[in-house]
Amino acid sequence: MLLSYLRDRLRLTGTKYGCGGGGCGACTVMVSRYQPGTKTILHYSANACLLPVCQLQGAAVTTVEGIGSTKTRVHPVQERIARAHGSQCGFCTPGMVMSMYTLLRNTPQPTMEDIREALGGNLCRCTGYRPIVDGFRTFCQESNCCQGNGNGTAGCCLDGESPPEKSGNLFDQGDLLPLDPTQELIFPPELILMAQTEPQMSQRFIGENIVWISPVSLDELIQLKADHPQAPLVIGNTNIGPDIKFKGALHPIIISPTRVQELFAVTRTAQGVYIGAGCSLSVVKALLEGLVQELPEEKTEIYRALLQQLGNVGGQQIRNVASIGGNIVSAYPNSDLNPVLAAGSCKLSVVSKGGRKEILLNKDFLVGFGKTSLKPDEIVLSVFIPVSRKWEFMGALRQAPRKENALATVTSGIRVMFTEGSSVVKELSICYGGVGPCTVSASRTCAAIIGRPWNEQTLSEAYTVLLDEISLSPSHPGGKVDFRRSLTLSLLFKFNLQILHKLWEMVRTGSGIRPLPNQLQPGIQVFQPVVNGQSVDDQVGRPVMHHSAISQATGEAVYCDDIPKTDGELHLVLVTSTRPHAKIRGIDVTEALQVPGVVDVITSKDIPGKKFRTFTGVDEELLAENEVSCVGQMVCAVIADTREQAKRGAAVVKIHYEDLPEPVFTVEEAMEKKSYFQPQRTIERGNVTQAFEEVDQVYEGEIRLGGQEHFYMETQSMVVVPSGEDRELRVYLSCQHPTYAQESIAETLGIPSNRVSCHVKRVGGAFGGKVTKTSAIACITSVAAWRSGRAVRCVLERGEDMLITGARHPVLGRYKVGFMNDGKIIAADLHYYANSGNTADESVLVVEKVLLHLDNAYNVPNLRGHSVACKTNLPSNTAFRGFGVPQSMLVTENMINDVAMKLEGGLDMLTLHQIREINMYKEVSLTHYKFQFDPKNLLRCWDECKEKSDYDSRRQAAGEFNQKNRWKKRGLAVIPIKYGIAFSEGFLNQAASLVHIYKDGSVLVSHGGTEMGQGIHTKMQQVASRELHIPTSFIHITETSTSAVPNTCPSAASFGTDANGMAVKNACETLYRRLEPVRKQNPTGTWESWVKKAFLQKISLSATGYYRGHDLYMDWEKQEGQPYAYFTYGACCSEVEVDCLSGDYRTVRTDIVTDIGRSINPSVDIGQIEGSFIQGLGLYTMEELQFSPSGVLLTRGPSQYKIPAICDIPLQFNVYLLSDSDNPHAIYSSKGIGEPVLFLGSSVFFAIKDAVAAARAEAGMDGPFTLDSPATPERTCLACNTDFTQKIPPSRPGSFKPWALNIP
Ligand SMILES: Cc1cc2nc3c(=O)[nH]c(=O)nc-3n(C[C@H](O)[C@H](O)[C@H](O)COP(=O)(O)OP(=O)(O)OC[C@H]3O[C@@H](n4cnc5c(N)ncnc54)[C@H](O)[C@@H]3O)c2cc1C
Ligand code: FES
Ligand code: FES
Repeated sequence: MLLSYLRDRLRLTGTKYGCGGGGCGACTVMVSRYQPGTKTILHYSANACLLPVCQLQGAAVTTVEGIGSTKTRVHPVQERIARAHGSQCGFCTPGMVMSMYTLLRNTPQPTMEDIREALGGNLCRCTGYRPIVDGFRTFCQESNCCQGNGNGTAGCCLDGESPPEKSGNLFDQGDLLPLDPTQELIFPPELILMAQTEPQMSQRFIGENIVWISPVSLDELIQLKADHPQAPLVIGNTNIGPDIKFKGALHPIIISPTRVQELFAVTRTAQGVYIGAGCSLSVVKALLEGLVQELPEEKTEIYRALLQQLGNVGGQQIRNVASIGGNIVSAYPNSDLNPVLAAGSCKLSVVSKGGRKEILLNKDFLVGFGKTSLKPDEIVLSVFIPVSRKWEFMGALRQAPRKENALATVTSGIRVMFTEGSSVVKELSICYGGVGPCTVSASRTCAAIIGRPWNEQTLSEAYTVLLDEISLSPSHPGGKVDFRRSLTLSLLFKFNLQILHKLWEMVRTGSGIRPLPNQLQPGIQVFQPVVNGQSVDDQVGRPVMHHSAISQATGEAVYCDDIPKTDGELHLVLVTSTRPHAKIRGIDVTEALQVPGVVDVITSKDIPGKKFRTFTGVDEELLAENEVSCVGQMVCAVIADTREQAKRGAAVVKIHYEDLPEPVFTVEEAMEKKSYFQPQRTIERGNVTQAFEEVDQVYEGEIRLGGQEHFYMETQSMVVVPSGEDRELRVYLSCQHPTYAQESIAETLGIPSNRVSCHVKRVGGAFGGKVTKTSAIACITSVAAWRSGRAVRCVLERGEDMLITGARHPVLGRYKVGFMNDGKIIAADLHYYANSGNTADESVLVVEKVLLHLDNAYNVPNLRGHSVACKTNLPSNTAFRGFGVPQSMLVTENMINDVAMKLEGGLDMLTLHQIREINMYKEVSLTHYKFQFDPKNLLRCWDECKEKSDYDSRRQAAGEFNQKNRWKKRGLAVIPIKYGIAFSEGFLNQAASLVHIYKDGSVLVSHGGTEMGQGIHTKMQQVASRELHIPTSFIHITETSTSAVPNTCPSAASFGTDANGMAVKNACETLYRRLEPVRKQNPTGTWESWVKKAFLQKISLSATGYYRGHDLYMDWEKQEGQPYAYFTYGACCSEVEVDCLSGDYRTVRTDIVTDIGRSINPSVDIGQIEGSFIQGLGLYTMEELQFSPSGVLLTRGPSQYKIPAICDIPLQFNVYLLSDSDNPHAIYSSKGIGEPVLFLGSSVFFAIKDAVAAARAEAGMDGPFTLDSPATPERTCLACNTDFTQKIPPSRPGSFKPWALNIP
């Protein structure tokens, strides 16, 4: 593929690997081709991971390196994403840049919609997308667009809104580099010449395993297909590519017909249009858009239905290469096009040696999973799409786990033809995807409607037939069975509304078809400017750009796998368990060792030192020796000359297992078997048991919260290089805790720590997932390097990473709450069961933190909590941003919701926020672990949030909206947070630094924190700048290294800046003091002159800094302690609109107010706030890890696991930093912010719950109800309890094997 060619052969490492399957956009490049016919050049974005190099004959490929660099000129796209703070860890940035660059090459003055569409296929796990959009918005030349400055003319995007509150700009737009299309790279003239003059010849590329044939004429293609009927025709490679890569499909011969012109021809007739089967979906989309503009509306029903679907197929990069013929012939069960084409009576022209024929694209053509009735030697030449007739209507409706770039759960194409002038149905065709092995035609249902008038009675009978006709087995692959069945009904109902709307312009029920709002508005970011008189050189408090944002945007930033190969370097691939619980009877590596290139297979027996890794005192096996306890556990590792060879070797390692009985997967099973990690924790204040006797009401409830994959864009990566002498090892890795990796490696190899140096330049996202798990893999990689004496590289593929490295702990929370009729909660008893997986890892610490935060912002006088880490046979879960707090507080807030709904029947949500207020801490108080604090700023955040979000009037407006709309409901929620900062294990709060001043005045700062996008290096530069009184341009921060600063603590717990900032400050203070004599001697001298002088005067220009940190503790025996240095506070109001028929929702607006003291860098802090909020939104509303009934993780890539994309961000997203807040407990009065806001993503969850409550109220249902997290469209739709969901008979639990387990 082009990606490995660029990275490995050409050493162009700016293009990144994020998933290898077209799902993340990290590998985006621009492909340009000369079109001899039109003499134009076509530019399109494409995923290099799916682009076969053989297919690029005659094409020019532009990578991020090609458009600009720090050595030449930075391109405006690169500059703007960097300056707008759109690059945090930077791993997604080159892909974003290339998507935007390609858009600008085609459309130099794009609209916001163009930008949104262009970025739809690019994922970012750090930023929350807002700053990326804002950076690129500056290219938007819409005449009235004010770029968010609120000074637009008539029709301004902010019309009707109050002008944004200004506090200074996060980035200055005044001096941005202008975009000058004339300065762009030109298409290579030699390629134009080649296309114009060179005769087209067929080509053959013969590789190790594949022969690639590219014919130029149709006859040649037909002959090739006759000779090699089993050879696939590869056009976009978006089906065949992933099949080869992920399913191991073998194709010794591949035919690539991209130069056969007939496959790309478009012919129009009065009856419709013939579209060449090779045309890309983007070309088809543009063509249909043109036809819709040109033809009378009644003729374009089918075209418009197709356009509706085409906008949703994959991301832009996929649509640019995937062909319409490929989509049809791939015959996916949930293809979006086939149901529309089939319902629309489209035809295919098919050719082979036997001649040409036309066949209808219908159920006789789509015969099974990935199967059509095409004979192996037949080729689809074109697709005929007819124009629609008068009285004919067509609809295409779908529901997917994410609004864009996600395969549909259910998709449909429905066409009806009425008898002229009447409502009697003459023809009807209903086709669904996602409810069977292939596109399914509901012909019985159609038969029940045809000939009858299209009215409620006909349809109501039709629903019964449809339900019977499309009856899925409860074990249907993909699960969501009740949801799918209800969608078949509700999509038909939505089509009905469309028809009614078209015929009679309905109003109230029209809400069923109106799309959810989608227009991104400029957000507001308010922060406190620095005080008047602060020196311009003092950068503290200013929105300084991330220190390596520009090199991240140009692709020059070096991540672990970008490090050039050393001579003789080997690649390591892990072999993991395929059984959830089994004895290992033997590991046979004979065949693996015979694979060419394989050098060794490492098993537990090969570990020279300690075979365990120890964290928090618990031992965990590095490689399973005698027994495995989950699918995905590491058993051995194959090393080979290339990664492909190592993969081949790993595939033939034979592990003989003897299954052990009854693996435990869920927390219920763990509870039954008392399968827990010790210790369990309990905490109580007051007398809960007695208090329950005295309250007016008692309610018991529960909520389940699923896990969350870290999905850092850079997968686990490391290179271990033995130095060849003194048993020294240099380890380059992407991790948050280099010291732990160093110690673990030393122990594993049985050598002292002083022989192992760990180096972290930057981390492409971590979120807690690169502490323990990285160290374990680094130990194994080090054993391989140790044994072979050669450098060994291990970079996990996305699927391996997701399988092996665990996730956030899923939690079951149960509670009993006692309250008075006035809403005051008097007693609460909460139980938390965390699914920890097969090893302890940090689970006990996680469940401790769960208990420490269970009060959130509420002063419940009698409060008891109990938490356990359940040991199960799933992959071991680990730290994840928030470390148990997001789980803990969701349970608490859900409990409060239930109390409100109990008291008011769930109708008046004004009461809900009042109940929060009634129970909030009001004055200096003690927490349930007797920690004294002042909630003043918590209450300020709460009040400001309500005020800034205009909560009361929007609450009222939502009520009015809900009255007027039957099928769309709006919901609001305001959620507070009180989050403890620092490690409760006091020793982890220390930090050190090393600062050198060189003779030219330049300063090199090293500290113990790792840069993983959170901007710690930038903040350390700012600290050093203030303390040394010099501009940041003098200061450089290179890698984090255990050789420079030893015995570091993990960059975690939102404490990195607090600890390392103080250590850097300490070192700089020392140096500045040392310079005092020379400064005094020459007060008007320059920094450089003082430094030079100091050297001549033999003053040491190097100093270490140290920070002891807070002496925190938690005494679980006494149930009291000082586990935190202070609290970060915040409040967030979110409003959503929910489509009750499909469960789809859109966050209309979010306002966050946070107290982060005096921000050291508002742009970095706002970046953390927005990014963690969106990650929380993902946790609570979208991201679903699914395990098979035998414990196999099914969601192993962006195709199955959906993190928020640009389509998921709030349409208006405002962030306010609380002003005039001081914090004596942290550097420069700042506060930690990396983790707290993640929980505020739950405001979207509770807003959805609020909207669902409104839907239920309309269906006559009041009171508390269950909505588990994540509130996916499936759960939301089923909770709405519409007429359609009620029709679905529930499957009897225990009577079938579900497709996926209900975890926790
Ligand atoms: C990340 C991602 C997201 C996606 N999202 C969606 C989505 O939301 N909805 C959706 O419907 N699809 C989706 N797809 C599927 C995508 O649309 C199809 O894979 C694509 O259209 C196939 O076209 P291709 O040219 O890439 O096929 P290729 O992979 O090149 O070929 C696919 C198959 O079609 C056969 N074939 C191709 N052309 C012909 C022809 N002319 N005659 C006979 N046989 C032919 C080949 O022999 C081969 O077996 C997604 C795919 C990816 C990778
Ligand atoms: S790496 Fe190519 S799309 Fe993810
Ligand atoms: S900055 Fe986008 S993934 Fe990190």
